[in-house]
Amino acid sequence: MKKQSLKKKLSLGGIMIVAILTTFGIGMNYTFNSNSHISESGQPEYTEVDLSKYDGTNADLPIYIALNGDVYDVSEGRGFYEPGGTYHYLAGRDSSKELNMIGGTIIANKYPIVGVLTK
Ligand code: HEM
Repeated sequence: MKKQSLKKKLSLGGIMIVAILTTFGIGMNYTFNSNSHISESGQPEYTEVDLSKYDGTNADLPIYIALNGDVYDVSEGRGFYEPGGTYHYLAGRDSSKELNMIGGTIIANKYPIVGVLTK
């Protein structure tokens, strides 16, 4: 009798833990993803309008550049991309046209992809 109720308690505890972890997981997703649109591949989606916010003007935000459909976080090279930087004009937008001529491989090899560009 006692053993059975202990089993019941344990499985109830298991369900509670799963419920708490699931809620926490969903919560964390909302906390860390500044963008609420998630692509089918699980990557955050950014439109060009979304990207314009991440052009280096706001020092508290990361700096993003879209290249061939991927969104790169170039914050590590802030000096290039903040206002007054040589390549500020490439930041916060889809710069595929320019970067496919020169500089694109540097971006692709140096910086992490944090999302995808969407219409
Ligand atoms: C429209 C033309 C150009 C574009 C779109 C372009 C783009 C870029 C990009 C995206 C980077 C990578 C910056 C980073 O590490 O985040 C870069 C690096 C660099 N570019 Fe350009 N570039 C252009 C023209 C030039 C020209 C004409 C020169 C030289 C006269 C030049 C010299 C450099 C140098 C030296 C670096 C390396 C900076 C470093 O890592 O310290 N670029 N370029």
